[in-house]
Amino acid sequence: MNIFRTDYKNYIGGQWVDSASGKTFEVTNPAHCTKVIATVQDSNKEDIDNAVEAAAKAFKTWRKMPAPKRGEIMFKAAEILLRDKEDIAKVMTQEMGKPLSETRGDVQEAIDMGYYAAGEGRRLGGQVVPSELNDKFCMSMRMPIGVIGAITPWNFPIAIPSWKAFPALVAGNTMVIKPAEDTPLSVCRLAMVFEEAGLPAGVFNVVTGYGPSAGQPLVDNPTVKFVSFTGSTVTGYQIATRCSERMVPYSLEMGGKNAIVVMEDADIDLAVDGVVWGAFGTSGQRCTACSRVFVHDSLKADFTDKLVKRAESLFIGDGLDDKVDMGPVINEKALKKIHTMVTEASVNNKVLCGGKINQYPTNDIDEKYGTFTETYGWFYTPTVITDVDQNDMIAQEEVFGPVVAIVSFSDTDEVIDMVNNSKYGLSAAVYTANVNFAFKALHEIDTGITYINSSTIGAEIQLPFGGTKGTGNGHREAGHSMIDNCTEWKSVFVDYSGTLQKAQIDD
Ligand code: UN1
Repeated sequence: MNIFRTDYKNYIGGQWVDSASGKTFEVTNPAHCTKVIATVQDSNKEDIDNAVEAAAKAFKTWRKMPAPKRGEIMFKAAEILLRDKEDIAKVMTQEMGKPLSETRGDVQEAIDMGYYAAGEGRRLGGQVVPSELNDKFCMSMRMPIGVIGAITPWNFPIAIPSWKAFPALVAGNTMVIKPAEDTPLSVCRLAMVFEEAGLPAGVFNVVTGYGPSAGQPLVDNPTVKFVSFTGSTVTGYQIATRCSERMVPYSLEMGGKNAIVVMEDADIDLAVDGVVWGAFGTSGQRCTACSRVFVHDSLKADFTDKLVKRAESLFIGDGLDDKVDMGPVINEKALKKIHTMVTEASVNNKVLCGGKINQYPTNDIDEKYGTFTETYGWFYTPTVITDVDQNDMIAQEEVFGPVVAIVSFSDTDEVIDMVNNSKYGLSAAVYTANVNFAFKALHEIDTGITYINSSTIGAEIQLPFGGTKGTGNGHREAGHSMIDNCTEWKSVFVDYSGTLQKAQIDD
């Protein structure tokens, strides 16, 4: 099946429609950034309002469909995603840039989330508890909230939208989603999947566009009863303020400055593998990416040497090429920001490898676009920076690119404080053979996700995803968390005694 379409429209009330603005914008491939791969709608408040109205209308009936039946539609959607995994991954590599192996993983997360949510359709339970009184029954039940507004990022173009959509929909909510302007195609594709799975019109709506013109009206729409956002810290804080002003709940998933600790007794090759994958996978553009490494003094020389060799050997290029280990970064603005941070760091810290913009990387064959001499991409060389103090800018600020800072330590008692010395708290990892230290670290590291002898990336959807401190606002996603976010409790008391019984009153 050829899913490649160059003219994407908004999906509102079960129809594919043009934006009321009459405007579109172009989506380009970050590996061949002069090439346009699609046009999408440049939407405005009118589109958002239409989509929210459609979602509010659909909510009236969707909420009444038995949850197991809603789960069956989620199951069908997961099956369609599985069937089309390769096609979706190929389009995603072209809009986002990460290698096919990684975009397949991204689609797989959506499939996993679909199956998980499908099962939850039969488990949307509450509690039954004893009453203080005779002949009285007490239970709690989950209620959907209503129209959910979701704003999703470009780094996981279908996985993160699926973390938000599948649980919200199976719980009986309806949704309007505004995908990142860099990667709207995967979310349009998700709408096609839901359409084919038989999701009723208006339950899932997609409006593409930019933050100020489409995202903000979604956050501000009075009919939107919960806002779920993944993206930059700056935007997250703005959303928090606006949602607080109109007293609607919201979940935020923002930055990270994720550390790997390499203890004296670590398996050094395993730790190098973990840092290479955590720092350079997805070109370092995961919220969970490893961007700080605390390595014990005794291992520093050997570890750094091995890491630099591995970083220099990574094959960079168009992610459609199977040989490629690392694709481009998302756009020119990101490339410039990464390079500015590395240049600034190079004043006080030592750039051991990388640190370069490389618009014509190593692979030059591409059926669709020709060679890299005809076009260029937003590529950055994998960068290792050393002689870093834990308080230096490069060890504190999120880079969101293939850059890792190495900080050495000698005192084991201090390293957990070093990991916690960050405004963020998403993910961390410890490489050690010492079970006592591993458990101490699990308890004392202040992050939402912690790994032992594995990298900072690769969380599975059946557990909550999110972080502490500046990473979020206490809500989590994936697993059961989004269902918790998107439902409200109703406590029910049934008195079948036939008499007036008064709780909490001594007669
Ligand atoms: C992100 O980092 O923005 O845990 C999402 C992971 C992936 C999801 C990452 N499952 O690395």
